[in-house]
Amino acid sequence: MLLPNAKEEASFDKIDYKRHEFNLDDNYKNKYKGKKFFLKTYGCQMNEHDSENIVGLLKEMGFEEVEDYTKADFLLLNTCSIRENAHNKAFGMLGRFKHLKESKPNIIIGLCGCMAQEESVCDELIKNYKFVNLVFGTHNIDKLPILLDKAFTNNKQNIEVLSRESDLVEKLPVVRVNKYKAYVNIIYGCNKFCTYCIVPYTRGREHSRKKEDILEEVKSLVKDGYKEVTILGQNVNAYGKDLYDDYFMGELLEDIAKTKIPRIRFMTSHPWDFTDKMIEVIGKYPNIMPSVHLPVQSGSSRILRLMGRRYTRESYLELFHKIKDTVPGVAISTDIIVGFPGESEEDFLETMSLVEECKYDNAFTFIFSTREGTPACKLKDDTPLEEKEERLQRLNEVVNTYFLENNKKLEGTTLKVMVEGVSGKKKMYYGYSETNKLINFESKKKLNAGDIVDVTITSAKTWSLDGECK
Ligand code: 5AD
Ligand code: SF4
Repeated sequence: MLLPNAKEEASFDKIDYKRHEFNLDDNYKNKYKGKKFFLKTYGCQMNEHDSENIVGLLKEMGFEEVEDYTKADFLLLNTCSIRENAHNKAFGMLGRFKHLKESKPNIIIGLCGCMAQEESVCDELIKNYKFVNLVFGTHNIDKLPILLDKAFTNNKQNIEVLSRESDLVEKLPVVRVNKYKAYVNIIYGCNKFCTYCIVPYTRGREHSRKKEDILEEVKSLVKDGYKEVTILGQNVNAYGKDLYDDYFMGELLEDIAKTKIPRIRFMTSHPWDFTDKMIEVIGKYPNIMPSVHLPVQSGSSRILRLMGRRYTRESYLELFHKIKDTVPGVAISTDIIVGFPGESEEDFLETMSLVEECKYDNAFTFIFSTREGTPACKLKDDTPLEEKEERLQRLNEVVNTYFLENNKKLEGTTLKVMVEGVSGKKKMYYGYSETNKLINFESKKKLNAGDIVDVTITSAKTWSLDGECK
């Protein structure tokens, strides 16, 4: 048993990563042919992409995926810790798995992802969830075959979670959910330690993949007909700082653009590391989508300081306007937390006025959720939940009006849309514009997922737009 340790997770001790290439031991190849797995993923794109690797590993071991967990021999939850809600959902699902295990004692139940990295979660699993057979973390996904094999052999509780990142493993098998758009990790971990955020504890310190590995992956995606890559990292803008002296996110974006992949997206950007070079490159290459996710979290400099965000309202706005002024037609989206400990009505009104100024194209809004072990956990929080809920509602009303206002401006224009598929009662095509707007549209021609077509916008709604493709 190897348990996570919160102190070690927070440390900056240097780790001498070794890059190595994954190779599945012949003993495990197809060993589980005929066995079925069920995988449920919570949380962000990073987790979704980890799950693509997990499916890759399980398929190489011979497993087949099922959508009904009652039919599975191995049931795995890839979990998220970002807010209490995600945490509760995973524990709720474990409750359902428990019933199944009572009638089918030979099934193996597993939990991985960010929650596995939490010391308190592992303690809880040991105390009250003995039926969970396999727990591994975000730093040892490559060990899944060995650990799973052990769990199938002993049917006991096997917990193996590393507190900090280990080697950088390349060439993990991957089964991508999509055939025309792909996730590509460029940097793992986070060094920012925003005071509310659990991610730096669950994902380790920032460590970048080598540029050669990233570019080789993108080039092979282009060869396989992929149309879009989303470059992933907890903070993509920190790319390269731990590896190179003269090659960072701007340089990498430029090299990815030169692969000629039709669409490049990236997330998430911390305003702190957003360089002029990046802005210049985003504006220069038409295949880098003019769509930037720039979490602000709060419009009050006082709260931003308590959050440890390293920028003020003024410096955020300066960056915001620089991006707007340099990248034609750019859409900017954001994340906002309301009800951070000590947030007063005046602080909240500063968030409201910032939103009025930025008129975001999209915004993800959250009520502050206390995460054990983070510094914000210790701050005095005397705003009642009802008041926080009321603030969230007021904020949502304002952000929604700007979504609609921005969308209305697109009526009558023609946008490039990448087709995703067909949906709804009317069987309309749907897809995303360059600025990441959801477009539902009719087309006389038959279209395929991954096609990029011109769509003229006929009407705008808050969350989507309708259009026609001639
Ligand atoms: N409570 C509420 N929201 C949070 N986020 C991160 N941690 C918390 C928390 N403890 C939000 C931030 C971040 C997004 C991914 O989730 O807005 O940008
Ligand atoms: Fe959390 Fe801040 Fe890291 Fe984003 S940059 S994951 S908000 S600590």
